[in-house]
Amino acid sequence: MPKTPDYFVGKTIVITGGASGIGRATALIFAREGANVVAADIDGEGARRTAEAIQQQGGHALGLATDVASRAEVDDMVAKAIAEYGQVDFMFNCAGSAFRRAKFLEIDDELHKKTFDLNVNGVFYGMQAVLPGMLARGAGVIVNVASMSHKRGGPGASVHYAASKAAVLTMTLGVAREHAKDGVRALSISPGPVATPFQEAADTPPELMEKFLADVPMGRFGEPEEIGELVLFMCSDACGYMTADTVYVNGGGGWR
Ligand SMILES: NC(=O)c1ccc[n+]([C@@H]2O[C@H](COP(=O)([O-])OP(=O)(O)OC[C@H]3O[C@@H](n4cnc5c(N)ncnc54)[C@H](O)[C@@H]3O)[C@@H](O)[C@H]2O)c1
Repeated sequence: MPKTPDYFVGKTIVITGGASGIGRATALIFAREGANVVAADIDGEGARRTAEAIQQQGGHALGLATDVASRAEVDDMVAKAIAEYGQVDFMFNCAGSAFRRAKFLEIDDELHKKTFDLNVNGVFYGMQAVLPGMLARGAGVIVNVASMSHKRGGPGASVHYAASKAAVLTMTLGVAREHAKDGVRALSISPGPVATPFQEAADTPPELMEKFLADVPMGRFGEPEEIGELVLFMCSDACGYMTADTVYVNGGGGWR
């Protein structure tokens, strides 16, 4: 929660991957606090549904169809957010996928490329699109979604994904430290397994799901809201001295 009551009222967050899972849950949490929410997703219909859910509760939201693997579409997303709400105070780069599970030697060029286009380039474009405005105002927070998998490397199932998330973590570290004196903070979150359509999208087999669960001492998957509330804290004025690092949210487990 913020230190200042109503801290988020009238401030604007752009959320990629805002149609589903962690991005959608975070959109609803920021709307609850009175923020303007721009939910962007390659699933434009889904993004609009998130925006409509917020509007129905009296909040301010915009749903956009955006492929974050395209710099032009990311620039357009941020331009539309600024046209609607004047500025972007916070950015949550949440869009991401493992696409499919594969052993290392079965990761072909296409899977490798599309994983990095989405998970790495999407975050790179997003940060480059919002940073100039934040630097000009001397204020802003960027939160990127990495993954617990960067610690273990994704052996046997997702080296492509784990490596892309390690890049997210490192980019966040570099951007945060480069701009530490400029009023802009950047952080990443490394979740363990969270109950969203993510595993289905990656076609995760049941035995891998059981392995994920067995690795979590709390004995359950996380809920998307348990990530979203952390994003809220990270963006708030209660979190002023935290930048650069990743925060693990994993029920005490997550492949140490
Ligand atoms: N669920 C987990 O277990 C887990 C664990 C660690 C990290 N993560 C990360 O959390 C983030 C959110 O995932 P989630 O669990 O909410 O999954 P999700 O599948 O519910 O949401 C991902 C969203 O990203 C969108 N998306 C995919 N490609 C896109 C593109 N090119 N441009 C814009 N949007 C695109 C999808 O349409 C979807 O709405 C991802 O970055 C994922 O890698 C998830």
